[in-house]
Amino acid sequence: MTLPETHPLRDGRTADSALVTTYRGVRGDRTPVWFMRQAGRSLPEYRELRVGTRMLDACLDPAMASEITLQPVRRHGVDAGIFFSDIVIPLKLAGVDVEIVPGRGPVLAQPVRTLADVSALPDPDGADFTAIEQGVALTVAALGRTPLIGFAGAPFTLAAYLVEGGPSKDHIRARTLMHADPEAWEGLLSWAAAVTGRFLRAQLLAGASAAQLFDSWVGSLSKTDYVERVAPFSRAALEPIRDLDVPVVHFGVGSGEVLVPMHQVGADVVGVDWRLPLDEASRRLGGGVTLQGNVDPALLAAPWPVLEAHVLDVLRRGRSAPAHVLNLGHGVPPETDPDVLTRIVELVHERGGAAAEESR
Ligand code: CP3
Repeated sequence: MTLPETHPLRDGRTADSALVTTYRGVRGDRTPVWFMRQAGRSLPEYRELRVGTRMLDACLDPAMASEITLQPVRRHGVDAGIFFSDIVIPLKLAGVDVEIVPGRGPVLAQPVRTLADVSALPDPDGADFTAIEQGVALTVAALGRTPLIGFAGAPFTLAAYLVEGGPSKDHIRARTLMHADPEAWEGLLSWAAAVTGRFLRAQLLAGASAAQLFDSWVGSLSKTDYVERVAPFSRAALEPIRDLDVPVVHFGVGSGEVLVPMHQVGADVVGVDWRLPLDEASRRLGGGVTLQGNVDPALLAAPWPVLEAHVLDVLRRGRSAPAHVLNLGHGVPPETDPDVLTRIVELVHERGGAAAEESR
């Protein structure tokens, strides 16, 4: 199966956009820029719209999810929207009892810690993604030539929440289960891969022009554990979209030791956190992989000249990769002054890209 003919990548709307061409490894006249968590609490218009609506209810209201997705695109002039949703939405739609507690994160009514718990998980085929498809379709219609990025959580990061029952520091219980009960672990990760892969496919078929797989908590793993007990399931999560010819970004926090295997699960682009300079990330990846990143979110609150110098340094180091999409090294902190993000977009559009490089 391929994308429908009316999909923005096929009908001429987004195939030549700066984001999509860069994700395909071609450095153009402009370095595209978007921000992880660009939609959300840093924007007063988001805080206003969300009053009285719970996080996951907002995600499942197509008109609200679409409006929230569009807010940062209008305000900052970023090169992409990222669909407003959450990595736990597919779990909820499959029937898992999960809520997002403000200031804390996803919390499950019943943690999944044994083989019996894994066997009792609902059928991934039972998840109905209609609300997501409607939200994506509304968003894509409003975005015109600006591409929408669809996303999903990788199986390990989802398992970190499922096993712990909520946010945790080192994901100790999940990492114990991985070794203590490999059968339960494999069952859990296969389940997570199936449900998160379907979530991603639903967004792409409904109109998203790129995909990002978030393995946010991958940094707590050894390289061996990642390669042997996690990466095969991340590859499985991408299986449902492999026939669609849509560029895939793979991002993790603290991923410096596992950049190569993260690329090898089937990603076109590797997202790098703030710890590793992009020239070093590119060297580790053999020099041929398109990168996304990696402005340190901490510097968003620093004086502009400090932040400006840092952004220019990120652009310079990004030139050691075949192509580069500027982003943060992790999400926008809620207390960020949104005008700072707009200023970064202007700076990157002025100073990034092949044209700026040649005129130097
Ligand atoms: O703009 C965007 O980037 C799109 C929206 C998006 C959200 N969650 C919205 C959200 C995306 C891509 C995610 C993914 C997500 N969710 C990840 C992977 C990305 C990352 O940050 O590493 C993870 C680990 C989660 C789980 C999760 N959901 C956490 C840790 C939290 C924060 C809890 C809090 O209140 O601080 C959430 C809730 C969440 N997801 C919010 C938003 C805007 C905040 C909810 C609110 O506004 O009340």
